[in-house]
Amino acid sequence: MHVRLLHVVAGMVAKVDRDHPADAVLRAELKAGGLARTDARAVSRAVFAYERWRGWVDLTQAPPTRVAAALALAERFERAPDSFTDVELLARAVPAWTAGQVAVSAEWVRSLQHEPRLWLRARRGTGAQVISSLAGAQPGPWADSVLFSGEEDLFRTAGFQAGEFEMQDIASQAVGRLCDPRPGETWWDACAGEGGKTLHLSALMENRGLIWASDRAEWRLQRLKQRTARAGVFNYRPAVWDGGERLPTKTLFDGVLVDGPCSGVGTWGRNPHARWTVTPTDVAELAAVQGRLLAHAAHAVKPGGRLVYAVCTLTGAETTGVAAGFERAHPEFRPVGLHDPFRPEETAQVQVWMWPQVTGGNGMFVAAWERVGSGRVEGRG
Ligand SMILES: C[S@@+](CC[C@H](N)C(=O)[O-])C[C@H]1O[C@@H](n2cnc3c(N)ncnc32)[C@H](O)[C@@H]1O
Repeated sequence: MHVRLLHVVAGMVAKVDRDHPADAVLRAELKAGGLARTDARAVSRAVFAYERWRGWVDLTQAPPTRVAAALALAERFERAPDSFTDVELLARAVPAWTAGQVAVSAEWVRSLQHEPRLWLRARRGTGAQVISSLAGAQPGPWADSVLFSGEEDLFRTAGFQAGEFEMQDIASQAVGRLCDPRPGETWWDACAGEGGKTLHLSALMENRGLIWASDRAEWRLQRLKQRTARAGVFNYRPAVWDGGERLPTKTLFDGVLVDGPCSGVGTWGRNPHARWTVTPTDVAELAAVQGRLLAHAAHAVKPGGRLVYAVCTLTGAETTGVAAGFERAHPEFRPVGLHDPFRPEETAQVQVWMWPQVTGGNGMFVAAWERVGSGRVEGRG
């Protein structure tokens, strides 16, 4: 990389901290302009490479030297991954505290050191069409999922503008599939954020039925509205919900998805800076928040309806810890068997762990329960 750009990258990584994640810093800095598109792209990759290889760099060196060192490591890893030992990767790629919280493996940390893959979800039934319209697109693991490794700026493509596809991580797509909503049902996406899963639920429901999409952050719901408009999704109702006991509606739902705020350990491949800012205290606090959200959202599940808990993290306190706490306090819910979309041949499990080294995307955990009572949930495949 040219020395001028090394300085640009060094200036950016100096601004990354807990409150300013790398993607936000990049967005703000690149928006200011001044870089050609190819340079902006190189800078963006270098910022993420730096965060990914930060466990190796010598912090006493000048920032541009550190960036150059990180880029050399990234290049070496792509060329000769076996030149890095498992022991070295386990010690440097993730912070030491993860060993007590996550089922850390060499396969997992190796997967985190690669540049993340970009996954798309095509409008229902149009996967082949999207693949043929984009250079560098190929089929993903199931219909409508697409792996993109092309160079084009997807946001500028006519297909994206027309809502023909969404950028959505493959593990997030798996969550929608695990929810398995049916056309005509009523769902609540309780932590809808910017609507990634709302859009998918709507697609699976063929735009029929109704989805309540709530979040505590109104600005995220504004983004959700833009995305639904682009995707031609109309069967939803946005609402602000702060996660408290007072629910946004008295409706009882066929399904409620709590895609809760979490420590994001499953996204450390895509968001490498988070490895160095998330703490065990965050994990404990977020587990408590998830437990509260589930307990409150559970009131809105109709008899025979299902409650789906999803998090893009892999710590035990969140995931199984939260699921166990919910089950202890809610005997009126029983676990639902789920078929891991990445291993459809395996028997149903009550908890699905999706690891990045298997998904080729984020890591996620999903558990689901059914409110005991009559309903059509019985008999689902
Ligand atoms: C993992 S993100 C959701 C991502 C979204 N479902 C998607 O697929 O694009 C978690 C969301 O929970 C929201 N959140 C955080 N704390 C909350 C709370 N106490 N009550 C409701 N929503 C909350 C955040 O604003 C964030 O949008």
